[in-house]
Amino acid sequence: MEESPAHPFPAISVIGSNGVVATLRALKRGDASSFGDFLEALSAETRERYNPHPLDRTEAERICAALDDPTALRFVLVDARDDQVLAYLLAQFVIPEGEKARYQNRGWTIEDGADCRIAPVVTDHLQGNGLGTELLKGALGILRQRGCRHVILFGGTRTSNARAIRAYEKAGFKPAGVFRERGIESVDMWLSLK
Ligand SMILES: CC(C)(COP(=O)(O)OP(=O)(O)OC[C@H]1O[C@@H](n2cnc3c(N)ncnc32)[C@H](O)[C@@H]1OP(=O)(O)O)[C@@H](O)C(=O)NCCC(=O)NCCS
Repeated sequence: MEESPAHPFPAISVIGSNGVVATLRALKRGDASSFGDFLEALSAETRERYNPHPLDRTEAERICAALDDPTALRFVLVDARDDQVLAYLLAQFVIPEGEKARYQNRGWTIEDGADCRIAPVVTDHLQGNGLGTELLKGALGILRQRGCRHVILFGGTRTSNARAIRAYEKAGFKPAGVFRERGIESVDMWLSLK
């Protein structure tokens, strides 16, 4: 089966602060098993903060079989030693009306195609080692090269998620406004790549 992703880009080598050497590349069809392991292993705490789609093996297989979807780019960091998935970032170019409306109400226009929303996650035992920062940096560089105009967060991020907020700030994101949904306070953040 063809291994190359629908949206190929050059792999980038990154090193975490704990010495983990990883490769940033596009998710590919052959990652289905490793990606499934990665999603299934995410802790309850991480799942509370991160739920852009089901986080299980079935979804991993579905995603890896449909990588020609033109509305999304999927980045992974894989262990340089064994190619196992260590981190994942979804970039989506079709943004739900409710998410757009929050920006519209603040005077900013978010458009499908020109703008995108992202959702990053690092495997639990490696969080806090700089890998999320490298994943963001690499993915944002590729999104910029591809002409993406603005990047927003998928569903904002909880105001209690200090580590994520810090990682986004380091990548250049600015807060766009606080909102509350189902009793949970979150903050929208956005980045201009222009
Ligand atoms: C958010 C996430 C992707 C960030 O990746 P990461 O590899 O853990 O983050 P990094 O180590 O690159 O950077 C974290 C930064 O936050 C800082 N930080 C860590 N814990 C913190 C805390 N409790 N309060 C404030 N800052 C904190 C770190 O010191 C680091 O900043 P520094 O480099 O200036 O020291 C990762 O933690 C994760 O997967 N979390 C669970 C899922 C999630 O929340 N996804 C985002 C949903 S919006």
